[in-house]
Amino acid sequence: MNEPLRIAVIPGDGIGPEVVREGVRLLEWYRTRRRLPIELWHLDLGAERWLREGVGLPDALRAEIATSASAILLGALGDPRIPGHEHARAILFGLRTGFDLYAQIRPARALADRLVPLVGKASHDVDFVVFREGTEGLYAGIGGQLRRGTPDEVAIEEDVNTRRGVERILRAAFEYARAERRRLCMADKSNALRHAHDLWQRVFASVRAEYPDVPSEHLYVDALCHELVRDPARFSVIVTNNLFGDIVSDLCAALAGGLGVAPSATVHPGGAFPGLFEPVHGSAPALAGRGIANPIATLRTVGLLLQWLGDAEAHAEIERACAAAIEAGECTPDLGGALTTEAAASAVLARLS
Ligand code: NAD
Ligand code: IPM
Ligand code: MN
Repeated sequence: MNEPLRIAVIPGDGIGPEVVREGVRLLEWYRTRRRLPIELWHLDLGAERWLREGVGLPDALRAEIATSASAILLGALGDPRIPGHEHARAILFGLRTGFDLYAQIRPARALADRLVPLVGKASHDVDFVVFREGTEGLYAGIGGQLRRGTPDEVAIEEDVNTRRGVERILRAAFEYARAERRRLCMADKSNALRHAHDLWQRVFASVRAEYPDVPSEHLYVDALCHELVRDPARFSVIVTNNLFGDIVSDLCAALAGGLGVAPSATVHPGGAFPGLFEPVHGSAPALAGRGIANPIATLRTVGLLLQWLGDAEAHAEIERACAAAIEAGECTPDLGGALTTEAAASAVLARLS
């Protein structure tokens, strides 16, 4: 890594700034201790800016990010003062769909036995990677309301599924499963959704035929949720659409220790755009300002960021350090510890060799 790695940092709202501060500390550790050519570019975007200036994600800034950033580190967006979530959609979807970041990769691997909430299951039973389609489905923003606010109101949200969009997320998941020698499960609801998910079925059949070496299966998403809890060890790579992926990734996170430890990478494999790296969790308004938010989801997210930029060893090392800190009980209250956000991050930093 000789090229400067310019990382745009968007702390966002609620606990976002508290956990991103620790993620930045980890990036700075790699800059000073490992001499990674990291350059941090702090961006003031989020609820405060929206309330102050009405600014979400300006087009000019998005264009500048596209051309000059290697990656984006984002905390979370969501503020009770903006109940319509306008700023969050403008920024989050402006980055995700604006950069065509179609693969939301959400690993959920339990770092310690005691983090697995299922009786009789251990950490080796919980090791999933969810591939969530990130640009279409019910998130496409197509729809409308009729006779709003009246008893005869109608609200429509269109579910957009394109052959290209379905094929590329399936292919990304199969490529990953092949490279990592993992099993794959595709989840849809084709028994009920006869147009859109019939497309998923047909594209799955044709892409799957190209990967005979990857053990693969299909489940309806309701059955997947049931089986994930009943027999988690059956699952490894899970690929699904945007909405189901949102829900399934929170379920997988819960099985691996909760949202406090769940990282995510939102990327366009093979594309030139910067990837977006964010914990799976939101702004957790009830925790904000109390100094007890778990920083591990963000630290692991920084691990995914460094891995995406080519440093697989940094990723492995961060995972090991997080596991060791949790094993020692040096963690925040959500994991049964008593440390603050900052102290929990320090416990991880201290374990980097
Ligand atoms: P949330 O993820 O903020 O919180 C859900 C639960 O998980 C809460 O009990 C919370 O205390 C806990 N939790 C979350 N992060 C934690 C952490 N780091 N450490 C310890 N506990 C943690 O989800 P929500 O309550 O549904 O949403 C709150 C706001 O965040 C909403 O405005 C929502 O739209 C937004 N949100 C944003 C993103 C994002 O920006 N990527 C993701 C999810 C939710
Ligand atoms: C996530 C979040 C977002 C999503 C919300 C805040 C729009 O839940 O990143 O998982 O649904 O994608
Ligand atoms: Mn979510």
